[in-house]
Formats: sequence, C-alpha cells, structure tokens
Amino acid sequence: MPSAVAGPRSLPLIGHSLELRRDPLTFLQRVQMDYGDICKIQVGWIPIVTVFHPDHVRQILVENHKSFIKSRGVRLTNLILGNGLLTSEGSTHRRQRKLIQPAFQKRRILSYAADIRESTEQLTARWNNGGTLDLHSEMMRLALNVATRSLFKADVEKDAPEIGKALNQAMQDFNRVISNPLGRLLVQLPTPVGLRFRAGKKKLDRILYGMINERKANPGDQGDFLSMLFAAADEEGGMTEKQIRDAAMTIFLAGHETTANALTWSLFLVSSHPDFQARLQKELDQEPETPNPENPNPLVRALFAEAMRLYPPVWAIGREATEPVQVGDHSFPAGTTFLLSPYVTHRDERFWPDADQFKPERWLNEQEVLAPPKFRYFPFGGGPRICIGEPFAWMEGTMALTQILSQWQFDLITKEPETSPLVTLRPKGEVLARSEKR
Ligand code: HEM
Repeated sequence: MPSAVAGPRSLPLIGHSLELRRDPLTFLQRVQMDYGDICKIQVGWIPIVTVFHPDHVRQILVENHKSFIKSRGVRLTNLILGNGLLTSEGSTHRRQRKLIQPAFQKRRILSYAADIRESTEQLTARWNNGGTLDLHSEMMRLALNVATRSLFKADVEKDAPEIGKALNQAMQDFNRVISNPLGRLLVQLPTPVGLRFRAGKKKLDRILYGMINERKANPGDQGDFLSMLFAAADEEGGMTEKQIRDAAMTIFLAGHETTANALTWSLFLVSSHPDFQARLQKELDQEPETPNPENPNPLVRALFAEAMRLYPPVWAIGREATEPVQVGDHSFPAGTTFLLSPYVTHRDERFWPDADQFKPERWLNEQEVLAPPKFRYFPFGGGPRICIGEPFAWMEGTMALTQILSQWQFDLITKEPETSPLVTLRPKGEVLARSEKR
C-alpha cells in the first residue's frame, strides 16, 4: 500500500478492531475528518482503504467495477447465503442476475402490494390505542411478514417469532465472524460461536427447504418469488434446488432486515418531529386511505429517503481489487480491500447542507435532489451490483408508512437511540413510542 495514504495509528495484530467494534460510525467519521477522503485503517492485521468521496465511490462501483470483487466480509456471507446473487462473482453473478431479474420486474413487484397492505393491516390490528410500542420489533415483524408472504405466499405469522429469533441469532453470530480476521476458521471449529452459527444456519435451512419441498409438491405460479425462481430458465436450463435455496435465502435475508431498519428509523424520525408528523398527516388526510403503490405521497417518499440518508441500512460496502487500481490520485495493488460508507458520505457537509439534521423537505425540490455529485447518496449501492430489490423496498417503505401514519400518531418515549451497526444499521435496544389511534 502506498505510504501516501494516511490513517490513524493502530495496535499491532488487532489494528482498529476495538474502535470498529465499539463505535464504527463515529470512528469512520473521525478518520475522514482527520485524514481525508482516502485513508488507511486496519481490521486485525488486514489493511483497509476507506473511500468517502462520491466521485471515488462512483469509480469503484461503476466506472471500474470490473477491477473489483466483493470484500472478504461480504464473501463470508456465503456461509449463510451459499453462492447466491449477493455473493457470487463474474459470469456466475451475471447469469444469476439475469435469471432472477424477471422476479423483480415492475409489474411483478406491483403484484406484491397486496402482501404489504395485508401485512401492515395485520400488524396494526394488534396495537392498542394509547399503548407503548417498540418501533423496531414492530417493523422487524412487519418486514419479516412481507418477505415471507412475497417469497412463499405463506402466512407465517404463527412461525414468525421462531424465524425472527433464528435470524437474529444468525446475524449476531455472523457479525462476530466478520469482525474477526479468523472468522471462517471460527465457524468451522467447534468454538461456541461456530456451534451456535451452524445450529442457526441449520434451523434457517430447515425452514427454507420445507417451503421449497412444499412447492415442489404443489407446482405452478402462486404469485410469489419462489414461483419465479422455479420458473427461471435460460439456454443453460433452470435453477437447481440448491440455487433456488441460495437465491431464496439471499432475497429473504437481503430484503427484510434492511427494509425493517429503514422503516424503524423513519418512524423514529416522525415520532421525534411532531411538527413534521402533523404536516404529513394533514396531507394524508386529503388522500385515499389505501396507498397507491405506484404513486406515493411525495412527503412520505421524502421521509423514507431522508431516513435512509441519515441511517443507511447498509452502512458499509466492501470491495477487493483483483488487479492494480487507481482511486483518486492513489494507486493500489491487487488484493487491496476498500470500504465505502454510505453513512459517512451521506453526512458529509460538503454535499449535504445541515447534514446531521432531519430535513425531509430537501427531497421535495427536484433540482436539489438531482444536484451532483450523484454518489453523495447511495443507500442501494450502484453499478452492476446495485440492489435488485430497490423498487420493492421503496414500494414497501412508502406503502407501509402511508398506511401506518394515516391511522396512527406516535410520540417518542425513549431518547434518540444509539446505533448498532451489525450487518445492517439497527438501533441499539428498544425504540419506544406511545401510539394513538387517529
Ligand atoms: C431499504 C432496503 C434496502 C437497502 C438499503 C438495500 C441495500 C442494498 C445494497 C447497498 C446493496 C449492494 C451491496 C454491494 O454493492 O455490495 C444491495 C444488494 C442486494 N439487495 Fe438490497 N437493499 C434493500 C432492500 C432489498 C430488498 C427488498 C431485496 C429483495 C427483495 C434486496 C435484495 C438484494 C440483493 C439480492 C442484492 C444483491 C444484488 C447483486 O449483487 O446483484 N434488497 N442491497
């Protein structure tokens, strides 16, 4: 690595692992402030180059994407996801993306609007007027339900707590694994983390293969993602059972926790900004109660966009160079790992006036929204690996928020939650709010 790239001093062997485990977001923001847009940090003994400027983000994700693969941390997710869309590379990735793309076509995505509506109705039917809700667990429940219905057309409300628990444990164990340079070894040996991780994965597999086998016994288009995966075929044939399992697990895991977090942060922001809540509800009162999936209220869309700016569910994106690369003014050898952080870039005052403040109105002015540089906002990544589920996430986010906020008013009880950047950016602990029926 060229010496010209500066960074904070690190401890031998463990590098900045302690800072990254304690509070990675503040640490990365401080690194940018002290050392600039391209810096060097260390996870264990592995050097990592942090890239914060939108133009450099574009170089890596779009212009020079062919020189990069996903970083080691992302590659490790194949322990759970197999060789699915998120983790595969090159021609395997291109084939899978092409096979899976029809499942994400606009018309098909719109057909899931009913799943979102019914899941939201089912969720809010349990709420008490004047009761206290943990917004995070409610939104996790909602997104889990939507993901399961749209993937499997199954109503798993009764199984949801069990699935949620298995996923939660898998995510926590997984976070330990990726923040440890010996991660892969850790899960292969009979260590406590390894044993728990394998048990969690087994449980998830049991659920998934159960649903796949059920579908094999009752084939045909049931209007869900799984039907599309069974139907997907190209000149090389269709998907194997293992490929279907990997794709389903990927859509399930990549899709629901990210959206749950975006919804949680949106509701946290609404319930801590009563003036905005009142303005939004006044607008929603003028509209039909059933949200239009194709044309959401602009203020609801602005709220969801601003929540993902301040709290991007995917707070870090990793890449590894497969050949010597140039980023900004610096050259790096093959094998260099890069870390991009939507969190840090989204809160950069050079590109976002009042960057730390909740100002959803900034999304109402099209000129302001389209102002360069493009990659000052990239909650869904970019280039050929851009989130395939982005349209689904927007539809789910805006529909659920419209439905919830038309009928319910929130008053935050807990103060601003700390963040807990595991694989996704969750709040630490509960986010309690009083809910009142309007
Ligand atoms: C607010 C919600 C969401 C956010 C913030 C989000 C964010 C992202 C990001 C940043 C990436 C790119 C990662 C990288 O370049 O390394 C990604 C990829 C992906 N996302 Fe999402 N996502 C969301 C919702 C969804 C949904 C709803 C689905 C599926 C139903 C989904 C499925 C995927 C898949 C399969 C990939 C891998 C695509 C590929 O590599 O070709 N995501 N997502």
